[in-house]
Amino acid sequence: MANKDLLSIYDLSNKEEIKNLLKKAFELKSKKKYLDIFRGKCLGIMLEKPSTRTMVSFAVAMAQLGGTPIFLTAEKMQCSRGESIYDTSKVLSKYLNGLMIRAFKHEDVLEFSKHCSIPVINGLTDYEHPCQVLADIMTVMELFKTKTVEALKKIKIVYIGDSNNIANSLIAISAILGLDLTVISPLEYQVKNEILKQTLQYTPKTRAEIKVTSDVNYAKNADVIYTDVWTSMGFDSEKVKRKKMFAPYQVNSELLKIASSNCIVLHCLPALRGEEITSDIMKKCENSIFTQAENRLYAQKAVLLHFIK
Ligand code: CP
Ligand code: NVA
Repeated sequence: MANKDLLSIYDLSNKEEIKNLLKKAFELKSKKKYLDIFRGKCLGIMLEKPSTRTMVSFAVAMAQLGGTPIFLTAEKMQCSRGESIYDTSKVLSKYLNGLMIRAFKHEDVLEFSKHCSIPVINGLTDYEHPCQVLADIMTVMELFKTKTVEALKKIKIVYIGDSNNIANSLIAISAILGLDLTVISPLEYQVKNEILKQTLQYTPKTRAEIKVTSDVNYAKNADVIYTDVWTSMGFDSEKVKRKKMFAPYQVNSELLKIASSNCIVLHCLPALRGEEITSDIMKKCENSIFTQAENRLYAQKAVLLHFIK
């Protein structure tokens, strides 16, 4: 049985569950079938931080499945005046059939999950972005035309940049699916030990190869190069320092020279051209990057169908 909530990729507890979810996402994309399954049901979309893709893809997904998205801008709610997460969770559970939250603190989403009787979906925290990486794996499968998740093992995925929420979720999904993932970040911004420790419950069985390094040469022969902003939401005070530290980790034509000749570039977006990725590479690789954004819709539909009963 599925977990009640999707707070972390680890809530999709095994490979089969993720495979089924991805299968559903592809089915929804190829059939363009808009079911009526959520008629009369409402999804709360609660955002403490800005969002384009997550907000819109979840809203459209809910509408196209027959349900209604309800926008709950955090500052317009009583929690902005001190109402507790406990009370808010109890009340929202009486109205809604599911709640997608984008929050600064992962602990707050855990707290909502604890007190909500409805499914709670993590739409990004400082710790994880599980909905994003489902769309990312879907995109890699689509663009490399791999028919099975097992065939993904041959693809060398390199994430370069900040070891943030995206990197953490990528590591988690790679551990469960048995993928070949290298995370390249400056020493000061490397993947935390607790994140690597968590993978150990899967890697002996799935034989995932997860490498962490500060050496950009590890992008050699990469089939996928994935990056994200150097300064995530909530870290703006570190912007100047980060720009300096991450400069050698930019996705540019020099880096792509050492990657495989058919390497694709992914970016979860929003992108800052001239920082983590150059304008020319954004332009050259826009097919993969915008397919990745498009796939959020189908991955999010599959998530809703998986969790909302
Ligand atoms: N990739 C992503 O989550 O985009 P938004 O911040 O626009 O939702
Ligand atoms: N790491 C980025 C992802 C944005 C989708 C952030 O948290 O701001």
